[in-house]
Amino acid sequence: MCGIVAYSGTKSATPILLNGLRKLEYRGYDSAGIAIHSDNTIHIYKEEGKVANLIDSIGDYENDAVHQQCHVGIAHTRWATHGPPTKENAHPHGAGFVEPGGSRIALVHNGIIENYRALKARLEAEGKVFLSDTDSEVLSHLIEFYYTDDLAKAISTALKEVQGTFGIACIAKDQPDMLVVARRGSPIVIGLGEDQTIVASDASAIISHTRQAVYLDDNDVAIIRGGKIDIKTLDAKPVQRDTADIDWSEGAAEKGGYEHYMLKEIFEQPTAIRNSIRGRIDLDRGTSVLAGLGLDSREIVDLQRLLIVGCGTSMNAGLVGEYAIEDFAGMLSEVEQAAEFRYRNPIVGSKDIVLAISQSGETADTLAAVREAQEKGALVAGLVNVVGSTIARETGRGIYLHAGPEISVASTKAFTCQVSVLLLIALKFARSRRLSREQGIKIAEEINSLPELVERVLEQNDAIAKIAEDFVKFDNMFYIGRGYLFPVALEGALKIKEISYIHAEAYHAAELKHGPIALLEESMPVVALLNAGPGMEKTLGNVEECRARKSPVLGVISEGDEDARAACDWVIEVPQSSQFIATVTSTVALQLFSYHVARLRGCPIDQPRNLAKSVTVE
Ligand code: AGP
Repeated sequence: MCGIVAYSGTKSATPILLNGLRKLEYRGYDSAGIAIHSDNTIHIYKEEGKVANLIDSIGDYENDAVHQQCHVGIAHTRWATHGPPTKENAHPHGAGFVEPGGSRIALVHNGIIENYRALKARLEAEGKVFLSDTDSEVLSHLIEFYYTDDLAKAISTALKEVQGTFGIACIAKDQPDMLVVARRGSPIVIGLGEDQTIVASDASAIISHTRQAVYLDDNDVAIIRGGKIDIKTLDAKPVQRDTADIDWSEGAAEKGGYEHYMLKEIFEQPTAIRNSIRGRIDLDRGTSVLAGLGLDSREIVDLQRLLIVGCGTSMNAGLVGEYAIEDFAGMLSEVEQAAEFRYRNPIVGSKDIVLAISQSGETADTLAAVREAQEKGALVAGLVNVVGSTIARETGRGIYLHAGPEISVASTKAFTCQVSVLLLIALKFARSRRLSREQGIKIAEEINSLPELVERVLEQNDAIAKIAEDFVKFDNMFYIGRGYLFPVALEGALKIKEISYIHAEAYHAAELKHGPIALLEESMPVVALLNAGPGMEKTLGNVEECRARKSPVLGVISEGDEDARAACDWVIEVPQSSQFIATVTSTVALQLFSYHVARLRGCPIDQPRNLAKSVTVE
């Protein structure tokens, strides 16, 4: 997720663009840039790192004629998806910066262009020279390829060839007062000010100027010129969009109107999962497309074991992956806590692939585990969210999560996106072995349905908040699950521990009677994962054992399961699905449950005591 700001008006664009970037920095902060139109030239400034670096590099813009004369401009703060966070990969991009006279256009882009490779090959065959590794630069070249004297028309023509998502802002050297913006899947908000128009990825960069805004719909193109806004479809049909009144506070705006980043990130999960699986599912062949692994089927078949290393939530996601690899592919798989792996002289070698899972890509123990696995000759890959992070660079191959920045210390969307991609990895490995095309198609379709299933769980937010009220008083809890659902119990217990400070332990459901059952009493509630599938009846029996000892039970059950409902004191229903899918839907339910318990206990949810977002020390 990146941040876009654009300006057209009577004031100098530069300060407004830079202040807007500061407001959007939470959306992405690995590089930033602006392009302004002044003295018939497009001036571009870009820097690696935070917006402050960009501002330093621009210098004293308040006393610089170029900046004083610019009244149209675009700006971008990047969350890298394609290509590491370097100055060259920073936006804005212009097609002809290598050509005499500089580029005729400049573009900023938020989104993922799935077919950028094919478009790039075509443009290179036309002699176009690329300066960056990004998919966004391909779009700037494509627009310039079609551009003669009508920027909006060139943009529409180019965007009709794009597969994937975009939110863009674009200016042209020979149309000094024109700003063109467009969207598909990545939001674009147009702020309607006095003698000025401010465009941004979200309202947080707009509300200090105006609270009147127009939100573009998918495949809208808006031409902004001299305070006038014309909105058309990609086929140039004029459309009207209503003006909205933004009533957010500045603080709430950065959180998309949510009270906490954690809640925002919980509700972002349908979009985040869509981005994680986008372009990676082949429903026709019943397999997944994971180019970043750099392995063909023959190389995959030769691998004997898939080892997963990670910490915390990433390790819990890995456990779901372990179950899926063995279940789908019949291949050996193990998960190890990264610190344990790095110090115990692990038995690993050239027939193993070690997958390092890390949202931040900077966790010290996971990085050390990567280095140890490499030392012992294993193939190593990363499943990382932050592009260009240390683990991503040192593994050299792997899959980027595309979940967007995760700000809240408690990991939510990273987990569900990690599991979604792990299911794709298991599908890929299984199809190179005994899984048939028909079986693969069924699994691929279920994975593809995850965003919609998560949306249905999120609709229960109010009901889950009501249940949470009954848990505020407890100081201890058990979480129990079996099979695929045991990692969900682990993740659910971790979540409520880290944000509400309730002591919660997760146990394999069968483990209760081997000791922990001694703790069951009225003040020890149990959360039971009871989704329909293998082992559910046994866990239902464990629930009876709990209630026989007066422990109240919250069941996460499959929609319509009346037996499970009758066995519990409270229930949260999730859509009926295979258990490997229920790992995601049930986790979302427990994320909301933990959030509301913590909120009702008055805890500082986004930054819990003692915790850091990335544990870069041992
Ligand atoms: C999860 O809510 C925690 N914030 C923590 O366990 C985290 O998952 C762990 O530190 C691993 O971080 P990583 O995914 O960035 O490597």
